[in-house]
Amino acid sequence: MPEQDHFWNQSARRYEEDFIDPYRPEVRSPLLRCLEKLAKSNRIVADLGCGIGPLLPFLADHFQQVFAIDFASGMLERAREKTAGRSNIEFLQRSLTDLADLHGRLDVAVAVNSLVLPDVSQLEMALAEIRACVKERGWFLGILPAMDAVHYYTILLVDRALAAGKPIEAARKNAAALGDLAGYDCAFGQYTFRGLEQHFWQPFEIRHRFGRTGWRLARLRKVHLAWKQFACWEELQERPPPWDWFFLARPHGDP
Ligand SMILES: C[S@@+](CC[C@H](N)C(=O)[O-])C[C@H]1O[C@@H](n2cnc3c(N)ncnc32)[C@H](O)[C@@H]1O
Repeated sequence: MPEQDHFWNQSARRYEEDFIDPYRPEVRSPLLRCLEKLAKSNRIVADLGCGIGPLLPFLADHFQQVFAIDFASGMLERAREKTAGRSNIEFLQRSLTDLADLHGRLDVAVAVNSLVLPDVSQLEMALAEIRACVKERGWFLGILPAMDAVHYYTILLVDRALAAGKPIEAARKNAAALGDLAGYDCAFGQYTFRGLEQHFWQPFEIRHRFGRTGWRLARLRKVHLAWKQFACWEELQERPPPWDWFFLARPHGDP
């Protein structure tokens, strides 16, 4: 069976078409403000699962050294092109489950929608590896895809169809088609799209798994996404848009 990095490699070329973008101007995300506060000219940061590199120019401008890490060569290739000419970024092709050469070296670790390994034991292995990389008194922040937001969006779609006079079975069918629900397994927190299986998080699961792997959650906040990236947004835009989860974590025991 092909490995996860194979599917991510395949998505590298058409990345912008297939993925919801948490960096759009209408998305009110605390990520950049928080990174600005943590930035210092002598600090080392890693972008874990950097993808095609949307965050790398900002990190390179604000930190002394940046490690750009991803297990998919196609993603790293695009990230390299995007940041050509910058001398303080080192690219490493690695899985987040094996970061031994970075242990104890990071002041700040960032992971935006990259903690998505479908096997939750590997996901916890990645969280523990990141914990080993971040110095005492360091920070770990990022964004996680939200499974509870899928439930929320489905509710809005079902209510919309009911209000249009559809019977409940038809309303569910309509919501399932518009929300691509065939790809979701809400009980296990999984989403599969074009063969790529990803973990989506519930907020209580974030506390649970971070707590088990040596992290203390200092902040957990919804990042409302851009309505325009969802079907039927014109009719639903009176409501808050679906979200991802922003987190800020410290090594357990740190203030
Ligand atoms: C949804 S993309 C997000 C990319 C980028 N952080 C952004 O904000 O646009 C997820 C990225 O994480 C990478 N990734 C997922 N699991 C990984 C793992 N276990 N080890 C290394 N990279 C991983 C994928 O290859 C992909 O580039």
